[in-house]
Amino acid sequence: ATQHSFTERLIIWQKAAGRHELPWQNTRDPYRIWLSEIMLQQTQVATVIPYYQRFLASFPDVQALAAAPIEQVIEHWAGLGYYARARNLHRCAQQIAAVHAGKFPKTAEQLAELPGIGRSTAAAIAAFAFGQRAAILDGNVKRVLCRQFGIDGFPGASAVDRSLWTLAESLLPEIEIEAYTQGLMDLGATLCTRARPRCGYCPMATDCIACRDGRQAELPTARPR
Ligand code: ADE
Repeated sequence: ATQHSFTERLIIWQKAAGRHELPWQNTRDPYRIWLSEIMLQQTQVATVIPYYQRFLASFPDVQALAAAPIEQVIEHWAGLGYYARARNLHRCAQQIAAVHAGKFPKTAEQLAELPGIGRSTAAAIAAFAFGQRAAILDGNVKRVLCRQFGIDGFPGASAVDRSLWTLAESLLPEIEIEAYTQGLMDLGATLCTRARPRCGYCPMATDCIACRDGRQAELPTARPR
């Protein structure tokens, strides 16, 4: 029988068992996708949802956000924490309005030059809004990759981080980048969780080094102390 790759299995699993009805899915509006990715950087999905809805009701597009006073933006952020995100969000909206004529740039490289948008967030926006082939690598994705491929070493260390980015780039599918990217996020959030991975439900478990060796609790390697 044909051996499906990690990438192929993840796409099949995402379509069958991943999340499809989150409020920022089923849209290609880069403004909505960008807003959700910034809110989700340090905050859980369930917490983000009501903030996301209220924020969009008050600031429906990037021009509305750019024109709003910062105090009003901060008020809408109250409770989400990490207020630098709200200040960068506002600066980013103003930059897009002023420098990019209100349109989001379409490549991950250009997106990553904007305030508050790091390499992984830029890739998520480029994939979901523009179908661009770009690799994400947040904390959840690092955990999935360290376990699946048996990568030792603290993922915050620069050498490990570099090899994880190279691996993440090498795994990208030629098509269906949206399902693949969402699949990585969904696997990390629902099956390949930090404390209690559900390997019995994971379509990648048969090829997973951590699962094979019973090292789920050891990978990813903790910060050295
Ligand atoms: N975490 C970061 N980005 C996400 C997304 N698009 N959907 C669900 N969780 C996420």
